[in-house]
Amino acid sequence: MLHLAVRAEPGSDFADAVLAGLAAPQKVVPARFFYDMAGSELFEAITRQPEYYPTRTEIGILACHAPDIAAAVGPGRAVVEFGSGSSLKTPPFLKAVAASAYVPIDISAEFLDMAARDLAAKLPDLPVFPLAADFTRPMALPAGIAARLKLGFFPGSTLGNMGPAAAVDLLRTFGDTLGDGEPLVIGLDLRKDAATLEAAYDDAAGVTAAFNLNLLERINRDLDATIDPTAFAHHAPFNADLGRIEMHLRAVRDTTFTVLGHRFVMATGETIHTENSYKWTLVEARLLARAAGWTPVAVWTDPAEMFAVHLWRREAARLEP
Ligand code: AVJ
Repeated sequence: MLHLAVRAEPGSDFADAVLAGLAAPQKVVPARFFYDMAGSELFEAITRQPEYYPTRTEIGILACHAPDIAAAVGPGRAVVEFGSGSSLKTPPFLKAVAASAYVPIDISAEFLDMAARDLAAKLPDLPVFPLAADFTRPMALPAGIAARLKLGFFPGSTLGNMGPAAAVDLLRTFGDTLGDGEPLVIGLDLRKDAATLEAAYDDAAGVTAAFNLNLLERINRDLDATIDPTAFAHHAPFNADLGRIEMHLRAVRDTTFTVLGHRFVMATGETIHTENSYKWTLVEARLLARAAGWTPVAVWTDPAEMFAVHLWRREAARLEP
């Protein structure tokens, strides 16, 4: 049996981002690198923790209100899901809106394969056009759905990893991909008290801590690094000024390590910033929509107002002189 060791070379996206991020005054590693095999499994486990309310709350809202969404947009659209992952939670939504086709977009071909197989079993008559692409870049949709009306789908508060400027850019790109007048269903976490938010990102079972610390294991494995994970602790405060949960890895003692031969020194209390998870009020979410060329149409929340599912419509391009 052949074992291929896949190591990131200097010059790879991961290597570049980690070396540049660790050299910055506030050390930072982008959150997209959480999702290696172990990280993806840990994220799935996070979504099952009692303190982590977003996933189950959003599923509940969609289950309750998918008929309202279907009534608002009309049946038979091609559902285009940005960052579909394994798409395991999408089939009920596709059924409820009577989708005529499904375009899962994900950077991972492996997840797209899983999604296609799962859907072939659950919805055998639904045409599926998987698209392996980075959804943060503009893209052409498959020719097979060119003639169909579309419905963008961006659940999970995935937008939460982006600050306002990047969020506006991404939402504008989605509109360019879908076309004028087309609708988007987007799940966004709501702002709430710090205690509830901080518990959701520091569950008692320690799963979110393990998810954060796994990034160090990945750096050690893929970038030939010598980080001692026991020198770091998970730290996830709510930054009320910026309206976001921040995840950090905080040095609990002075520590020194190398990454691809580069040496780094951290003092006790110094942190590596690993993730932002923005929380928006309903008003902030609507302003975000307007800023990115969308018109807010409707919004649904759970009774406790923990999470929001918004329906927006892409404005027609304005003709300018
Ligand atoms: C996948 C970005 C929506 O911000 O809640 C969960 C990731 N990080 N717990 C979130 C995450 C720690 C999650 N998103």
